[in-house]
Amino acid sequence: MSRIYLLLAWLCALSATATPKIFHPGELWPDNRGQHIQAHGGGILKIGPTFYWFGEDRGQTNGRGLRCVSCYSSTNLAQWTFRNQVFKTRNPENFGRGWVLERPKVFYNPKTKKFVMYMHIDGPNPGEIGGYKLARVGVATCDTVDGDYQYLKSFRPLGHESRDIGQFVDDDGTAYLIFEDRPFGFRIAKLSEDYLIVEKEICLIAEHMEGGAIVHYEGLYYVLGSALTGWNPNPNKYATAKSLAGPWSEFKDLAPPEKNTYGAQSTMLLKISGTKTNSVVFMGDIWKPQSQWDSRYLWLPLEIGGGKLRLPEPKKWSLDIVTGEAKNEQ
Ligand code: DGJ
Repeated sequence: MSRIYLLLAWLCALSATATPKIFHPGELWPDNRGQHIQAHGGGILKIGPTFYWFGEDRGQTNGRGLRCVSCYSSTNLAQWTFRNQVFKTRNPENFGRGWVLERPKVFYNPKTKKFVMYMHIDGPNPGEIGGYKLARVGVATCDTVDGDYQYLKSFRPLGHESRDIGQFVDDDGTAYLIFEDRPFGFRIAKLSEDYLIVEKEICLIAEHMEGGAIVHYEGLYYVLGSALTGWNPNPNKYATAKSLAGPWSEFKDLAPPEKNTYGAQSTMLLKISGTKTNSVVFMGDIWKPQSQWDSRYLWLPLEIGGGKLRLPEPKKWSLDIVTGEAKNEQ
């Protein structure tokens, strides 16, 4: 029985990966139900051959006052199956009406075997009194990747303001949070052994940026972020360093500055380690502040190497998840 099951699972995985699936940057991205994916400001966690995409669920049918995070799975990164609305909560610590949950990121802790979700928690929307003044991270955990996450607590990491957060797991498995501390800049900090605390600052990059993302590629760390322009796009920039602690190079444009990152804002840099090559995918959000549920995704393979990072002009593309090769499609 179990052999048959394994064979079937293998055949399914093979058919999912055999034909490269096409990415349509900036277009509606339907899940297996035909509904536009709700995983804004998101992040990816890979468990075995499966990618899990977590992000803000801004769906119009979410109950009033609820803040939701949804999870989708895929083995090819292009076709996604809705798994669960893994987190939904109403004002867990009396944050105020109109409180904000943004940019959830999930880590898997192999020691505790827990899935640990970090999220940006804040007060009401900017413009309202007290808007975005809390500047905290929230933490929720779960025993399974797509189960119902339980809210634990919120805090200011290492006592600092924290708005946009990004996640980074280094090749040695160490987990880091990159967070935006408005008065000072980007901070990169290591999580505790159980991932429940932001334990140690590794670096302060004194640049006023948000949408932080990091990738380690051929011996160099690349950090990417956007300027602080609310929901409006701006030229995202990157810097490099041999160590997460720096020193970091000057920030350079990811794309021609007049293109405003083709309307997108960074949320994650995803490395695909293939049998032939390693590709790095830019994951960005094209925000629609008046109809957040319809916000789009700009995922594109980056040109990367030798300290340079370039976001190509958006075109349809495909990825061979086995070899790691990305190519343009008609
Ligand atoms: C830009 C951030 O990156 C978003 O996540 C959100 O916080 C908006 N600002 C709010 O204006």
